[in-house]
Amino acid sequence: MSAPPSYEQLSANFSWSVAERQLGYRPGAPINIGWMCSDRICQLGMSRKLALLWEDYQGNQKRFTYDDLRTLSNTVAHFLTLQEILPGERVCLFMDRVPDLYIGFLGILKMGAVAQPLFSAFGDESLFVRLADAKTSAIITQKKHLYKVRKIRSQLPDLRHVVVVDADQASLQPDEIAFQMEKTPRIEFFAVYPTTAESPSVLHYTSGTTGLPKGAQHVHYSIVSQYLTAKWVLDLRPDDIYWCNADPGWVTGTSYGIIGPWANGVTQAVLDSGFNAGHWYEFIEKYRVTVWYSAPTAIRLLMKEGAEIVRKHDVSSLRHLASVGEPLNHEAVLWSEEVFGKPFHDTFWQTETGCIVITNFPGMPVKPGSMGKPFPGIIATVLDPKTYEPVDHPGVAGLIALRPGWPSQIRGYWNNQAGFQARFKNGWYLCGDRASIDPDGYFWFMGRDDDVINTGGHLVGPFEVESALLGCPAVAESAAVAKPDPINMEVVKAYVTLKRGFQASDDLELEIMNHIRKRLSPLAMPQEIEFVDALPKTRSGKIVRRVLRCKEFHEPVGDLSTIMDD
Ligand code: PRX
Repeated sequence: MSAPPSYEQLSANFSWSVAERQLGYRPGAPINIGWMCSDRICQLGMSRKLALLWEDYQGNQKRFTYDDLRTLSNTVAHFLTLQEILPGERVCLFMDRVPDLYIGFLGILKMGAVAQPLFSAFGDESLFVRLADAKTSAIITQKKHLYKVRKIRSQLPDLRHVVVVDADQASLQPDEIAFQMEKTPRIEFFAVYPTTAESPSVLHYTSGTTGLPKGAQHVHYSIVSQYLTAKWVLDLRPDDIYWCNADPGWVTGTSYGIIGPWANGVTQAVLDSGFNAGHWYEFIEKYRVTVWYSAPTAIRLLMKEGAEIVRKHDVSSLRHLASVGEPLNHEAVLWSEEVFGKPFHDTFWQTETGCIVITNFPGMPVKPGSMGKPFPGIIATVLDPKTYEPVDHPGVAGLIALRPGWPSQIRGYWNNQAGFQARFKNGWYLCGDRASIDPDGYFWFMGRDDDVINTGGHLVGPFEVESALLGCPAVAESAAVAKPDPINMEVVKAYVTLKRGFQASDDLELEIMNHIRKRLSPLAMPQEIEFVDALPKTRSGKIVRRVLRCKEFHEPVGDLSTIMDD
């Protein structure tokens, strides 16, 4: 097998038009992600090629060819059109990793609506906040998640349709619609809506420090970046069997769990099941997975299970490994070299970037612990936090910043342009992370520059947790901060003051934890609650989370005078 082109070769005279040409896109012409990932691949003669190998935790299996993707996504698109969903309206996907989710995503895009995937473990409050903000018109879900939708539906005047993919009409309420994709007559020809480069495509909600989660607005042109980064960074080739661990409720699961691989006409395997080391290695062995895109928390869990269990399986099919979402510690890279004979390649990016922006390229020497170098066409640096000028000394920490304008950069936060504009300084987009750059141009991640908690690669906004904590009758005030964790890197910890008449107790701690788990999600649930008499505040009464976070990480708090006086 030939070696992939080098980073230097690919960077020389780089232009995104390489991807446009390979995708057959002419600037100004219609471009539709749903069509690009299904009909276009069939037109290239790959109708009968397998697109999706799916298996769930019970061992049920399904296989779909590219022609199945094409006709089934037509069927979804046609169904939504019959429901009078209009182009531009938001259609939420609220499902486990079932085929209906992956194919439904393409169907929504084909009829011009905006796909809004939400993590199926979200509780009713997390769901409500995101559906209300997006004024979502329809939600497609499974019977097992319907109770959460029913609980909030009356407060969502814009939600016209509740569609259930695995139920008969007789088992639903009259205002809910049964739609079983595979049991519906297939639509062979569907007139794909002529979306153009800047037409909205996907709305992913992401957490910030302040306020509730923000809707990151992607456009159809994003496929240009997602296609090329999947090809060059994940090193996807025609005969690959690709496995992405991420759930499409998060950006990795759409950019590289749907769009990237299918735009490349690659076969992908999906396992709709939680973590289990033995099961995961069996899955790799059974499907002969060649490219694996995972995350540091998963790798740490695998490391904990040891090397012996790997040796019980034939994982020799693996050719390329990559990771995203959190710092990939150098121990994990060394372990992977030892047990798989190859390193995990770190990739850094965000919901807002839409595609990988800093990465260890295949073929580039991996410096364990470093994130690698900017993708060709991405201008990245670190800025001095006071002047917002690039730091010109290697090894000195600064704010990770990118020159705006690559194809998959979001075009804004839904209904919150001011929030999006605040991310730009001096003509740079600020990622909200800190790093240093070494003399060879490799980026070394140092930490986030805000209070957002990264637990197992998932961002949790402290404000969302604190707002939900106010729903507990005993809670007067609270601060949610990160606490270090050996597996998940960080977990949520809540500092809480109680209302008069309430006593701190283990029972109360459990009650509060459960409240957050059910209303928000298991990820957002504080793993510890510390009851305190008062929280650190500025003179004007704003809670200063940084003091508490530093306490958890045993770090010096530093100069607080400016914050405390605000
Ligand atoms: O803090 C960085 C961290 O995850 C954030 C982006 O989270 P999200 O928008 O949910 O997207 C996650 C998947 C793309 C970043 O601002 N992060 C992501 N990748 C890395 C990382 N931190 C360290 N190393 C990485 N490779």
